[in-house]
Amino acid sequence: MDNFLPEADALPKHIGIIMDGNGRWAKKRGLPRKLGHREGAKVFKKCVDDCIDLQLQCVTFYAFSTENAKRPQDEVSALIKLFDEYLDDIRKMNDKNVRLRFLGELSFFPEKTRMKMFDAENATKNNTGLQCSLALNYGGRSEIIHAVQNLMANDCGSVQLTEETFGKYLYTSGLPDVDLIIRTGGEKRISNFLLWQAAYAEYIFTDVLWCDFGKSDLEAAIREFSERNRRFGKI
Ligand code: IPE
Ligand code: IPE
Ligand code: MG
Repeated sequence: MDNFLPEADALPKHIGIIMDGNGRWAKKRGLPRKLGHREGAKVFKKCVDDCIDLQLQCVTFYAFSTENAKRPQDEVSALIKLFDEYLDDIRKMNDKNVRLRFLGELSFFPEKTRMKMFDAENATKNNTGLQCSLALNYGGRSEIIHAVQNLMANDCGSVQLTEETFGKYLYTSGLPDVDLIIRTGGEKRISNFLLWQAAYAEYIFTDVLWCDFGKSDLEAAIREFSERNRRFGKI
């Protein structure tokens, strides 16, 4: 039964992954935190391949929150350097038919890093495989404020405001609502991730640290999701 995976129509349509625990993973080994992040980036790449393998449609990885910007400068700089390095590699995802998106207040990043993000989005925009988003300098509250500002500046009065039309102003415009959120690292909170989009998400919290998260953990989460009884307020 261990290998059982649900049929395609019972798979989550959009998984959000809070990749937490890199610092603790490094600490346990007597390593600096930034080496935990480096390992975490490798696990991220492997996880994208696992998502492709499992024929998932859409996944969003939480890599850096607006609150993470308040960490010590050397850790923030190490993370920015890591994103920049991995962006070169991420562009290879084009070959895997992955569509990449970057969600967040991206002006935070240096111009050359931002350009790599725009290039990667552009190069992959017609890809029809896994829709893979990276939430970078992302905060759910800041996203909602950004959406309201955008709406007021451009379409105020001309748009009939509904939950659906509002969704078009969010960074995740065009993506389905997130229906499964997995958080590694043992904490049981959402930490400002996809606040609007997760209104009816199922949550799976695991003690496994992100650097130790593998395909079997992802499969286990998907199995648990498929066994949950989702009622959406009905009976
Ligand atoms: C998650 O790991 C990665 C980021 C938030 C950038 P942490 O750095 O939060 O690791 P812990 O929670 O301190 O172990
Ligand atoms: C959440 O992890 C953000 C990311 C994984 C990018 P944190 O480690 O920042 O969350 P808190 O501070 O424990 O809530
Ligand atoms: Mg953490």
